[in-house]
Amino acid sequence: MLKIIDHPLIRHKLTIMRNKDTGTKDFRQNLDEIGGLMAYEVTRNLPVKEVEIETPITSCVGVELAKKIVVVPILRAGLGMVNGIMNLIPTVQVAHIGMYRDEETLQPVPYFEKYPPKFAEAEVIIVDPMLATGGSSIAAIDMAKKQGAKSIRLVCLVGAPEGVKAVEKAHPDVDIYLAALDDHLNEHGYIVPGLGDAGDRIFGTK
Ligand code: PRP
Ligand code: URA
Repeated sequence: MLKIIDHPLIRHKLTIMRNKDTGTKDFRQNLDEIGGLMAYEVTRNLPVKEVEIETPITSCVGVELAKKIVVVPILRAGLGMVNGIMNLIPTVQVAHIGMYRDEETLQPVPYFEKYPPKFAEAEVIIVDPMLATGGSSIAAIDMAKKQGAKSIRLVCLVGAPEGVKAVEKAHPDVDIYLAALDDHLNEHGYIVPGLGDAGDRIFGTK
């Protein structure tokens, strides 16, 4: 399933991020805020279990989250979305998958992975602002599944149709959430209109 989270606040903040004149501080802050806004929709169908509690007045049945939640940023740029999600769900655990895209071949090159205990039983939310060819997301989902993950959501800010199609084909069981579906990829594998190189804009490395 592909869901575009279309909300005026998200569109407003994404427009600030797309603007080439937006500096690192504002880019980071808006990404953080969009991460939090998207988390609300992404977690809408999380499983809950009933619990009996005592209010100051009487006993009643409420609910709590049934499974633990692990957020998995794809390094580096995915790190920019973790804080916003953590603000909404303070109990999340964080796994890390380090991966960069080879500039010539556009193939993902993994360089790091670290998971919390019982990762296989968790609701897994993989985050990365950019879904371009889809290679990085597909490789990250492959790695998470290799660790036993069974319930995975992929949350990106901006996606290209080519990348969405590739992820849907490789992992039809994974729900994809985007803030925007852009037009196409250019000859260098960049999303058009996009927002440029997300990692460099977050970390000020260019
Ligand atoms: C970017 C982005 C994704 C990937 C998307 O990472 O954050 O991980 O490219 O491209 P794809 O869909 O074609 O795989 P990058 O390789 O620039 O690494 P960085 O986050 O460390 O800058
Ligand atoms: N990675 C980015 O950071 N931006 C793109 O447009 C494509 C891949």
